[in-house]
Amino acid sequence: MAKIVVLPGDGIGPEVVNQALKVLAKIGEKYKFDYNLEFGKIGGSAVDAAGEPFPQETQETVLKSEAVLLGAVGGPKWDNLPREKRPEKGLLELRKTLGLFANLRPVKCWPQLVEQSPFKEEIIKNVDLLMVRELIGGAYFGKKGHKEENDELKAFDTIEYSQQEISRIVQTAFQLAEKRRKHVTSVDKANVLETSRLWRRIVEEEALKYPEVSLNHLYVDNCAMQLCLNPGQFDVIVTENMFGDILSDESSILGASLGMLPSASLGEGPGLYEPAHGSAPDIAGQNKANPLAAILSLAMMMRFSFDRQDIADSVEQAVERVLAAGLRTGDIWSEGTRLVGTEEIGDAVINEMG
Ligand code: IPM
Ligand code: MN
Repeated sequence: MAKIVVLPGDGIGPEVVNQALKVLAKIGEKYKFDYNLEFGKIGGSAVDAAGEPFPQETQETVLKSEAVLLGAVGGPKWDNLPREKRPEKGLLELRKTLGLFANLRPVKCWPQLVEQSPFKEEIIKNVDLLMVRELIGGAYFGKKGHKEENDELKAFDTIEYSQQEISRIVQTAFQLAEKRRKHVTSVDKANVLETSRLWRRIVEEEALKYPEVSLNHLYVDNCAMQLCLNPGQFDVIVTENMFGDILSDESSILGASLGMLPSASLGEGPGLYEPAHGSAPDIAGQNKANPLAAILSLAMMMRFSFDRQDIADSVEQAVERVLAAGLRTGDIWSEGTRLVGTEEIGDAVINEMG
């Protein structure tokens, strides 16, 4: 019995998660996939209910699970809270608690959505890349603070990486590349940052263990440009936390929309699966959100936490057929396609699963 914990979170989180749960029910039925669901609170809704963004109860629940499905966190209602109480802090604590050092964000160009993309077809048509982002180190978790000195405000964040933190994420990237097109691009800022110089050294050392995988290094600024200029060159991109955060939002547009980008965060224990988009409070509760990233995140859960490649493939193919049939939520709509709501596109995926 697969133990799955669901953390719907804030904004459009609950709506998109509901669609993924409909797909999960279908998976249960069609593949006799046995699972047990538990729900928990995280983010702003947890602040409202329990006074903190990652309550003890949620912590205990996720630690006992095999996989976690999360919607999104955050919203204007909680924007003025101190850093420790912000919804995002809940997500960061969840990642840290589960030791989720590897964040995987696969970006591929959906042929059905090329029309809608701001990029020319010849630039994005071959895009099929995997962003591998270090998720529990760097500036997000380094020493930080602020003070006032002679009426002047000062603040700082520090980036620290240990050899072990770098090698485990780099190994993950190389192992994933072995199963793909066997190329790794490591992204750093070794011309300026000390952490990046260590990063590059470790990457070089680890690369020796994967002779079939080719490697190149790019500075992060150059990588940001190359992603727009010639994104077809990339297979696996591996980088530190903050660079990965920025580059993955940029990359998502190569696949059509942030609303199509799923993610898996992996460590030693349970995996966390969440759409890469935010809580989109402006459209929350209006049946407008695109649930496909949440549904595709569920597919990643089947692949990585439960080793069910067959189920993952069938969900992904169903999504493709829904797009081919011309159904679109607002974020991926273009002239000549049919604008539908969150529920309707979720139902369509289930129908396509047969
Ligand atoms: C993401 C998000 C988070 C991050 C925020 C919500 C803390 O942008 O998952 O990419 O910066 O990691
Ligand atoms: Mn982000």
